[in-house]
Amino acid sequence: MKRDFLAVSDFSYKEVKEVFKLTGDMKKGKIKPQPLKNKAAVCIFHKPSLRTRISFEVGIQQLGGRSLYITGNEFKLGKKDDPEKREWYYDGAEVLSRMIDLIVIRTFEHSGVEELAKFARVPVINALTNLYHPCQILGDLFTIFEKKKKIENVSIAYLGDGNNVCNSFLDAASLIPLDLRIGTSPETLPDKDVLERAKKSNLSKINLTYDPVEAVRNTDVVYTDVWASMGQESQYEKKANLLRKFQVNSELLRYAKKDSLVMHCLPAHRGEEITDETMDGKNSVVFDQAENRLHIQKGIIVELLKKSKG
Ligand code: CP
Ligand code: NVA
Repeated sequence: MKRDFLAVSDFSYKEVKEVFKLTGDMKKGKIKPQPLKNKAAVCIFHKPSLRTRISFEVGIQQLGGRSLYITGNEFKLGKKDDPEKREWYYDGAEVLSRMIDLIVIRTFEHSGVEELAKFARVPVINALTNLYHPCQILGDLFTIFEKKKKIENVSIAYLGDGNNVCNSFLDAASLIPLDLRIGTSPETLPDKDVLERAKKSNLSKINLTYDPVEAVRNTDVVYTDVWASMGQESQYEKKANLLRKFQVNSELLRYAKKDSLVMHCLPAHRGEEITDETMDGKNSVVFDQAENRLHIQKGIIVELLKKSKG
């Protein structure tokens, strides 16, 4: 049965460990699997992307495959009664399943990706929706694992907007034991259901606070993301006013562990959610994170294709 990766929790913790092992081994050049040899993958992007697009396209090539990049012009699926759609999800999914071996999609509504995955007969990977950014978070957890040599109970302070990146951290915390602190405002909370699920799983420590110092105190990782995500640009002023006190700067970093990692998924708005001195400082691993996007996409693809074979 084919497997999809729409959320971090689509993998079990055991599978996450397998992905980390594959990723590490490919990164070190110990293995060079070619599961996409003579195969093709489509990368559908409805939002801009540098890291995700390039890491998938290069990764697919390194796994022996060919990648096709398409946008909303070619791919505009919708529900049967949606007047805006070019074609129904089922029809588009069926066509792609007859020509393509893997679908990577970045779009707005998470339900659109779920709908596509429901009908597609090949694996679908979520390359970011308004709800989740699972490949990013798996890559970031791999970076933390590389740097700290462990992942369980690592303390991570996520500061800023309760967005797709924040939701994926919470989703990961319902699977992997983490000490996750979210520093945000009452108006920019993460998704209610995702937060509830993470808390109910009773696996991780989840602490949501409106106080940036409380969030970062003694943490191993200080993480931030843009205040207004793609598609929410009109809310920028409002969010910036709410989130300014959560800016990652050297003053705030004094409260984290001395060897804390400074992380950002990028693109960054330097001088807004993160200052130059912290992004370029000795604790920053932002470019290692970005590089690891390539390695983790390959790990995710290899694992998914392996598991899809049964
Ligand atoms: N971090 C990330 O997903 O970057 P892009 O939007 O450039 O892909
Ligand atoms: N939260 C950001 C992440 C970009 C990689 C966005 O959705 O725009």
